[in-house]
Amino acid sequence: MPEKYKNASDGMKARVVKGYVNDKHSYLEEYIKIFTQGMKYKWDGNLIYIDLFASCGKAIITESNTEIDGSPLIALRYPFRAYFFNEIDPEKIEVLKERIRHLFPDKYENCCFYCMDANQAVVDIFNEDRIFQTRLQPLTLIFSDPNNLNPYFSTMQFIADNYRADILFHFSTGMDLGRNISNAVKIENSKIDRFIGDKEWRNMGQKDGIIKYYFSKLSRLGYRLGNDGYPFNRPVLNSKKRLLYHLFLLSKNVIGEKFSKISLNYSTQQGDLFNG
Ligand SMILES: C[S@@+](CC[C@H](N)C(=O)[O-])C[C@H]1O[C@@H](n2cnc3c(N)ncnc32)[C@H](O)[C@@H]1O
Repeated sequence: MPEKYKNASDGMKARVVKGYVNDKHSYLEEYIKIFTQGMKYKWDGNLIYIDLFASCGKAIITESNTEIDGSPLIALRYPFRAYFFNEIDPEKIEVLKERIRHLFPDKYENCCFYCMDANQAVVDIFNEDRIFQTRLQPLTLIFSDPNNLNPYFSTMQFIADNYRADILFHFSTGMDLGRNISNAVKIENSKIDRFIGDKEWRNMGQKDGIIKYYFSKLSRLGYRLGNDGYPFNRPVLNSKKRLLYHLFLLSKNVIGEKFSKISLNYSTQQGDLFNG
């Protein structure tokens, strides 16, 4: 479905969203809070935030007409050494820049903006910022919040091989995935082929089998899974309690998982795993 926009109180564009966006943002914020507090001394403040699908920084909730901060402005409330924002739409990234210049003038110098496909941004950010390639490599939190199946598996591999990063990963595990699967089986080089990184998923049965297969591949890159075969996660449901997507915490470290559990306790609303 195409995204909708309205003007926010600052006169610039804002995404029009449903109220359940609060679940995503509160989990993100709780995770960022504990990540920046818990890792501050261990990493001597060398913490980085990367938002791969940043959008324009503000949203308006349809049901209540309330204006809220998007993920980049939430992250800017917390002490990262640098912030990398990527967004494919040039108009949105310009709006985001303008908002940050206005709302966080002291932090503007610590922000880098990219306007490209997220799969390319991951590579460019790594190659352009030399700090990633030194012995003092930062600890990075990556927020991956696409509208549909993204990033490619090759990108996840690049991150696992090159970054020291936890990834908060939006995966449309709800009805959209079912639809995408039935469409993709007929297509030679489909979105799902690129997302999962091969064509084997076609032999994995229904949706749950395919999701487990995807995570078994990620576990081979070093990401931790629970006994149920999934990384730690929180489901996001709509007002009719139908599953929309999961936010998965991909971490190679047991501390990431611990942070994630604490964040879940403090963030709003909870649903059950795969009940959609
Ligand atoms: C769900 S929105 C992100 C919302 C934002 N994270 C927040 O919480 O405020 C997804 C964004 O990804 C952008 N986008 C879509 N495809 C992309 C791609 N391949 N690479 C980078 N950005 C993309 C869209 O323009 C859209 O603004």
